[in-house]
Amino acid sequence: MGMLDLRDLLTGRRDGAKPIAHDLAPANTSASASATAPQTSSVSAADSDVEAYIQIKSRLHLQILERVDLASLESMTELQLRREISTQVDWLLQENPAPINDAERRMLVRDIQNEMLGLGPLELLMADASVSDILVNSYRQIYVERHGRLELTKVRFTDDQHLLRIIDKIVSRVGRRIDESSPMVDARLPDGSRVNAVIPPIALDGPTVSIRRFAAIPLKMNDLVKTHRSLTTEMATLLQGLARAKVNMIISGGTGSGKTTLLNILSGTIPETERIVTIEDAAELQLQQPHVIRLETRPPNIEGKGEVNQRALMRNALRMRPDRILMGEVRGAEAVDMLQAMNTGHEGSMTTIHANNSRDAISRLENMISMAGLNLPLKAMRQQITSAISVVIQANRLADGQRKITSIQEITGMEGDVVTMQEIFAYQQTGVDARGKAVGHFMATGLRPKITEKLRNAGVDLPDALFDSSLRYE
Ligand SMILES: Nc1ncnc2c1ncn2[C@@H]1O[C@H](COP(=O)(O)OP(=O)(O)OP(=O)(O)O)[C@@H](O)[C@H]1O
Ligand SMILES: [Mg+2]
Repeated sequence: MGMLDLRDLLTGRRDGAKPIAHDLAPANTSASASATAPQTSSVSAADSDVEAYIQIKSRLHLQILERVDLASLESMTELQLRREISTQVDWLLQENPAPINDAERRMLVRDIQNEMLGLGPLELLMADASVSDILVNSYRQIYVERHGRLELTKVRFTDDQHLLRIIDKIVSRVGRRIDESSPMVDARLPDGSRVNAVIPPIALDGPTVSIRRFAAIPLKMNDLVKTHRSLTTEMATLLQGLARAKVNMIISGGTGSGKTTLLNILSGTIPETERIVTIEDAAELQLQQPHVIRLETRPPNIEGKGEVNQRALMRNALRMRPDRILMGEVRGAEAVDMLQAMNTGHEGSMTTIHANNSRDAISRLENMISMAGLNLPLKAMRQQITSAISVVIQANRLADGQRKITSIQEITGMEGDVVTMQEIFAYQQTGVDARGKAVGHFMATGLRPKITEKLRNAGVDLPDALFDSSLRYE
C-alpha cells in the first residue's frame, strides 16, 4: 500500500480503496504488509470494515490486558514487550479465530503493539509526514491539517476511555500528569511535536487533544520564498540582513501563522561565533549553531511548587553572557526583561508575539509590561518599546491556509505619545481565484528603512532596487 492510499483513507477519499484493515497499518510498516497482502480489488471497504477491525483489535487488546501482569509489562524493554504482545495475539487468535488473513493478523499485532507502547490510532497520523497538525476533537472525530487545510480523517479511538489512556500515556511519558484536578496539560513528544490535552470537566464533550507536528526537516527561507510564496526574495534579503546586522526584531502573527518557523529561519543567519541563549515554553527552535544554550520553562508540580517561568529564565539568561537572546514567544511580564535586554547590549535579540498587526503587537507589549506591575506611565512604556525594537514583521495565515508575510514595518520613534512606524514591504490581496485561493502581490512601499546606516556598518549593503515601489511581485 502506498502513502497515497493511506492518505485517501485518512481523508475519507476512498476511490480505488483497498481492504480497510490494510489501510490501518502504520505507514512505516505498510510496505512489508502490502508485499505479502493478497491483492483484492474490493471497493466495498466501508465504515463497517473499519468497525469490524477496530472491534477485533480492541477485543484482543483488552484480552491481553486481562491476561498479562501489568506490573511485569512495565519492567520489560520495548522489544520484550513487543514480543510478548505478538505471542499473546497469536495465542488468542488460536483459541478464538477471527476472520482475518495472515497480513491482517500481523497488522493487528503491530497496531496493538503501538497502542500499548505509543500513541494508538494517532501513530498512523504521526507516521504521515504530510500531516502538520492532528486535532482530536473527540474519540470519534479527528481532523488533520495538511498543506494548510483541515481534513476530517477516518481514524478514531474506541471510546473516551481509550483516548484518555493514550493521553495519559503521552503526558506521563514526559513527566506531566493530567486528571480532574489538573485537566489541561502541555507536553512535548519525543520527536519534538507539541501536544495540548484537555479532559473533562473542562472539555465538555470528552477528552480532546491538539498536536502540532514537529517538522522533521524544518522549512528554509528558500521554501518560504519559492514553494510557499510567503515573501519575496527582496523581503528575505532584507530580513536576513537585519538579523545579521543585529537589529532587534519581533515577529507578530496569529496562531499557526508561521511565526516560530520564521524565527527559526532568521536565527540561522546568526554567525557561529555568537553565543545564543534560547528561552521557550516548549522547545521548538532548531538552531544549527554550535554555541547555543537552550532553556525551557517548567510548570508547577503537584504541590504547586517548582515553577520556572519565562521571566525567571530571561533574568537568568542575562547572567550567562549571551550575545543574543531568542525567546520563542513573549506572553507576559517577561516582556519587561526582554526589552531591557534588547536595550542593554543584547542586540539582535528576537522573539514572536501573538498579534493581528504591527500596531496590535505594540499594544500587546504595553499590556505585558503592565502585567509586570511596574506602574510605568504609558509614554515611558512606549519609549522602552521604541528604543528596544526596530522592526516588526507581520505573519498572517490567510483564509485559504497560505502563510504570508503581510507587512514589514520599521519603528522609527515617537511623536508625542504615539509610536511612529513606517511600512517597508506589504502584501496586498486583490481577490480570490476560482478555487478559493487568495490572489495578490507583494510590494515595496518605496520607503527606505532608517536603519540602513546600521546595516551598512554591519557590512550589509542592500541595493536600492530592493525598495523599488514600482515593482509588483505575485
Ligand atoms: N510560510 C509558510 N508556508 C507554509 N507553511 C508554513 C509556513 N510557515 C510555517 N508553516 C507551517 O505552519 C505550521 C505552523 O507554523 P509555526 O509553528 O511556525 O506557527 P506559529 O505562528 O509559531 O504558531 P503558534 O501560534 O502555535 O506559535 C507548521 O506546520 C509550519 O510548518
Ligand atoms: Mg509559535
